Amino acid sequence: MATEITIDQIHQYEGQEITLKGWVYLRTGKGKLQFLRLRDGTGIVQCVAFRPDLGDELFEEIKRLGQESSIIVTGMVRADERAPGVPGGYEVGIRQLTVLQNVADYPIGPKEHGIEFLMDQRHLWLRSSKQWAIMRVRTVIKRAIIDFLDDHGFVNIDTPILTPSAAEGTSTLFEVAYFDEKAYLAQTGQLYNEANIMAFGKVYCFGPTFRAEKSKTRRHLAEFWMVEPELAFCDLEQLMAVEEQFVSYIVQTTLQKCRHELALLERDTTALAKVTPPFPRISYDEAVARIAAIREATADPELKALLALEWGDDFGSPHETELTKQFDKPVFVYGYPSQVKAFYMEPWPGRAEVCKSVDLLAPEGYGEIIGGSERMSDPAMLVAAIERHELPLEHYQWYVDLRNFGSVPHSGFGLGLERTVTWICGIDHIRQASPFPRTLNRLHP
Ligand code: 4AD
Ligand code: MG
Repeated sequence: MATEITIDQIHQYEGQEITLKGWVYLRTGKGKLQFLRLRDGTGIVQCVAFRPDLGDELFEEIKRLGQESSIIVTGMVRADERAPGVPGGYEVGIRQLTVLQNVADYPIGPKEHGIEFLMDQRHLWLRSSKQWAIMRVRTVIKRAIIDFLDDHGFVNIDTPILTPSAAEGTSTLFEVAYFDEKAYLAQTGQLYNEANIMAFGKVYCFGPTFRAEKSKTRRHLAEFWMVEPELAFCDLEQLMAVEEQFVSYIVQTTLQKCRHELALLERDTTALAKVTPPFPRISYDEAVARIAAIREATADPELKALLALEWGDDFGSPHETELTKQFDKPVFVYGYPSQVKAFYMEPWPGRAEVCKSVDLLAPEGYGEIIGGSERMSDPAMLVAAIERHELPLEHYQWYVDLRNFGSVPHSGFGLGLERTVTWICGIDHIRQASPFPRTLNRLHP
């Protein structure tokens, strides 16, 4: 009796008869041989059909199998260094094969397709090996995020998705009808995290967040996952120390667990291996000076125009990309001008125009993966900031209340899951880091 296994277990079954259930990824062959590359969700393995072993009828049936036909295969496992697959190194000599469905005309072939076509076929494209690898990396990153935080005393408290007010600016809100009121899809769980730390000390939320981003960059989704740790009795310095430990753990864990996936993606892992604490820290002022110097030095007029920047401006993708090329690790940029950041950030002592914010920018041009800050802890100052941002105070009264009942210095940050996946996988667009991405131009499938 053959043992039913999955492809990721195959190395334990050399010389034994096994059964695999999956889909035909690729079929080739000539003469008396047919090669089926079978995928089952855990990996890809080459199965070999030899006409004299199988008889003409079954062999002919195998020869007619189209890409993505669903099959059950029983056969002998052989070690063979040259055998292609993921992880590779084994093949299956077919003894029996049952066809559940033979597929003709699967729309995605080995030939090159345009990105819009592939995105329209996203429900099928997820089966392709690179897309499969990216999603596997994504789940490992999610697990690493949760493990790190759980192991470091953070309590996972969920925050609402339907919210009455904005936290990250009013221009990116998705409005929904909430009975007789207006509500918005959450841009962040942070404000609720700040309530939760006063009950639990260190907390995090991890879930979908929404931004009605009118931008078509490679970095923006309308729906993305964010993990947001928040810590009571924590200042900006201490926050950076947590962030660099956290990000290094995520990267090193993924390197360890996703060797095959990163190889499939042809990711240069030497760059990732360098991601260990400490990360360089530069001020916004220094970043502006560095960008000015890069702009000065470039002979490319297009880049010169893109890098135009004055003190007080927020960075765009080109600024972050050029800046991060100067570092081989993620780099902290702290002390942004208050005018480009959210209302809740603590002002810099003695420099009211600057706030205790810190962004973490990923290397190799990937840019911001984390936004964070020390939060304003004085109630009067917070009320003034809410009014300055023209936000309706009545919606934030509970948030101000937190500063009236045992206010403490506290800090937190948000790491974007898809931005992190994009960087670690080394892919060029964030849409491939989400199974079913939501962007300005796409809600389907
Ligand atoms: O910098 P952001 O807007 O910060 C916050 O929302 C804070 N409330 C977080 C906190 O302190 N608790 O967003 C944080 C991160 C960004 O660095 C980026 O990685 C990701 O969320 N992000 C996006 N990812 C994809 N598409 C978008 N439109 C994103 N906007 C932010
Ligand atoms: Mg940000």
